[in-house]
Amino acid sequence: MIEPEVLRKLYSVSSANHNRINCDQCHTSAPHNDHVLDNHYEKVACQTCHIPEYAKVNATKLYWDWSSAGQTDEEGNGYSEDDADGNHNYLSIKGNFVWDDHVKPEYYWFNGTVDHYLSSDTIAEVPVKINTLFGEYRDSTAKIWPVKVHRGKQIYDTENNTLISLKLWAPEKGQGAFWKDFDWDTAARLGMEYNDRPYSGNYDFIASEVYWPINHMVSPKEQTLACIECHQRDGRLAGLNDFYLPGRDYNKSVDYAGFGLIFLTLIGIVAHFLGRVVAFFKNR
Ligand code: HEC
Ligand code: HEC
Ligand code: HEC
Repeated sequence: MIEPEVLRKLYSVSSANHNRINCDQCHTSAPHNDHVLDNHYEKVACQTCHIPEYAKVNATKLYWDWSSAGQTDEEGNGYSEDDADGNHNYLSIKGNFVWDDHVKPEYYWFNGTVDHYLSSDTIAEVPVKINTLFGEYRDSTAKIWPVKVHRGKQIYDTENNTLISLKLWAPEKGQGAFWKDFDWDTAARLGMEYNDRPYSGNYDFIASEVYWPINHMVSPKEQTLACIECHQRDGRLAGLNDFYLPGRDYNKSVDYAGFGLIFLTLIGIVAHFLGRVVAFFKNR
């Protein structure tokens, strides 16, 4: 049996928007009793403010370097090594991993549709995007989403400029499976043969990225992302430059207005909060 495992694993990011339970199905699209917060609905996903970090309990795998796979002990057998937290950081069959917890997401426009790198595609850019999230500011269906970006290095054909599907598994040694024999060239040749795709015999490793919009682990409301995390120059949205964001973007007089607006709303929110506190004590 030959598994095009390299690609298949990475394909598993769901591309469609269906079957997703949306926050607003339970909470409505205006859950805050505060129109400034509610106004963000058009352009900022609930998750962006309410999931300020991910992997809050267990570490998550952020980086996977296949190129170091295949090292063996004196007897020619594979082995594994763990990091201080007990997560594998080296496996002969898979290479090096980097894990982390309490990770800040990266932010992308996302309209719910995704494009996947197909095994027959030629590599157009480095890093190779195994999937691409679509969306931009002008797209009325797109919002800013928190995203886990999984980076890695994987084997590709340097002449055909395609990612390689390896033969990974076989019941016995000597049948060309990478996980038994640790021979890249043979595993690449057999894997590509099985998939009916050309293999030039020349391979190297190339950087790749996979994007996972984050949907889980809403934080307690006290830990929601603060205004200033986005509305400042080097804030979390520093990489999204296709729109004007008050407080972040400085040029022209509109900035002045932007700052003023933020300031006023902050005062508004504080006043609103104080109002609630007062009301609370009044009603006791
Ligand atoms: C721009 C950031 C931002 C966005 C986007 C956002 N929220 Fe919030 N949310 C907050 C902040 C800040 C609070 C806490 C302050 C408050 O409750 O006044 C909060 C509080 C809440 C609460 C608790 C309210 C309460 O009074 O207990 C819920 C529920 C909630 N948000 C749901 C959502 C949902 C659902 C969405 C998407 C439709 C969403 N939020 C989008 C910032 C945001
Ligand atoms: C199946 C229904 C459902 C869905 C879907 C849902 N929530 Fe909730 N959520 C609730 C309920 C119920 C509560 C508790 C309400 C309460 O305590 O008053 C709650 C509480 C919250 C709170 C307040 C937490 C606190 O510290 O008091 C926030 C913030 C929140 N949800 C955000 C979200 C976001 C963001 C999403 C989408 C990722 C989401 N919820 C999806 C039902 C849901
Ligand atoms: C996740 C990042 C993020 C956070 C956190 C955030 N904002 Fe925003 N905010 C945005 C984006 C993106 C826009 C631009 C929306 C657009 O152009 O339509 C925006 C627009 C605004 C605007 C101008 C549009 C309007 O609603 O009038 C104001 C004011 C504002 N935010 C205030 C706040 C305040 C106050 C907070 C904290 C309570 C806050 N924002 C938290 C991302 C954020």
